[in-house]
Amino acid sequence: MQAKQRVLTGITTTGTPHLGNYLGALKPAVNSSQQSDVDSFYFLADYHALIKCQDPQTVHRSGREIAAIWLALGLDTNNATFYRQSDIPEIPQLAWFLTCMTAKGMMNRAHAYKGSVDENQRQGHTDLDQGISMGLYSYPILMAADILMFNAHQIPVGKDQIQHIEMCRDIAMRFNHTYGEHFVLPEAMVDEGDAKVLSGLDGRKMSKSYGNIIPLFAPTDELRKLIMQITTNSLQPGEAKDPATCTLFEIYSAFASAEETQAVRMEYANGIGWGEMKNKLFDYLDAYLSPARGRYNQIIADPGYVEAELQKGALKARAQSEPFMHKLRSAVGIMSLASDIDIKANTGKAKKELSTEAQAKADAGKAKALAIAKQRADQEAQQLAQYVDQLMVQITASEDAQVAGEEAVEGLQLQIQNATKKTRKGLQKTLQLLQQRLSLS
Ligand code: TRP
Repeated sequence: MQAKQRVLTGITTTGTPHLGNYLGALKPAVNSSQQSDVDSFYFLADYHALIKCQDPQTVHRSGREIAAIWLALGLDTNNATFYRQSDIPEIPQLAWFLTCMTAKGMMNRAHAYKGSVDENQRQGHTDLDQGISMGLYSYPILMAADILMFNAHQIPVGKDQIQHIEMCRDIAMRFNHTYGEHFVLPEAMVDEGDAKVLSGLDGRKMSKSYGNIIPLFAPTDELRKLIMQITTNSLQPGEAKDPATCTLFEIYSAFASAEETQAVRMEYANGIGWGEMKNKLFDYLDAYLSPARGRYNQIIADPGYVEAELQKGALKARAQSEPFMHKLRSAVGIMSLASDIDIKANTGKAKKELSTEAQAKADAGKAKALAIAKQRADQEAQQLAQYVDQLMVQITASEDAQVAGEEAVEGLQLQIQNATKKTRKGLQKTLQLLQQRLSLS
């Protein structure tokens, strides 16, 4: 049994992580990787990356960069399990089992798919599925496999992923119902602070698709240049400014302490100039990020180290996925043809977790089955006794009862020798009873 809460999340290896990703996902995950009371699993979702990106160079480079970022930020790879999805062959195997448990109608309602259909409609395409791959269509199933493979309880995700966790629960329930209780039903862990997303250069939400991001480890010069581009209003130095509507202030306060933030708030009231505020934000961020950026530059120059860390993680992860997959394969009936199927072993856990009502039902069913079996055994015993009675009548009626008895015994012994496995047991019982009766008579 798992004692600790298990937290698992995947990072699609596309794009360049930015300040918004750092605050929303990376920082909290790195913190939780260092907590010894949580069993955390972080993985590079490189199979997921193939849905969005078909350029091998980019897929490869992004994987390395993103792994290096996590390591540079201090992910504790001894406490947490940090691995690459494609190193776990059991995940796509499980994805197929789950595909067979997934209602197509449910997949039609997945946001990512529906979004693409809507976009096709908006653009006036007659084929609403134009440009949509089966990878995009069914990726929530692959995601479910990522989660269920390790029976994680909590899944930290952004709001856009909540639907996928619900689908995962649905698929897991169906599997459990069909094959026995194998999967924990996971829950989405959505950081409420997430509601306040970080703004980008132009004041809209920081997002790669808006082209307004500040990459987490932008070199100093680029970081300065980007901060200077952040949109402000036309208020002059000396005029009081509103921190609540200012991107500079928003980014500053997301990184700074409460006291530092308060001090800057005062400066806004006192009319700090935009140029001065931009320099302040740059100095602050540059100092804040530079230690991790230094580690990142070191790590990215040493891909062997990154690979070794991932191999270490894969070993830890596979120690669980391999035996679990073995169990799941037997549960669906895929196993060595030389072995007997033992459904009981697979569903044993399900029985333990039944509701009282279901338990009562199951108990009643079991009692009924036992009663039927007992009735049948009684009947058989009775028939056997009747048969032996008949034999005894014949034996005692014959001229030499001694010889007739011995002949009857020998006859039965011969029958037993030639009997099939199925009838042998019954004959043996008959013989036993006959011998008993003969020695008594
Ligand atoms: N689809 C997720 C995203 O785009 C990434 C992901 C893949 C994931 N597998 C996962 C997240 C499993 C949580 C659990 O953000």
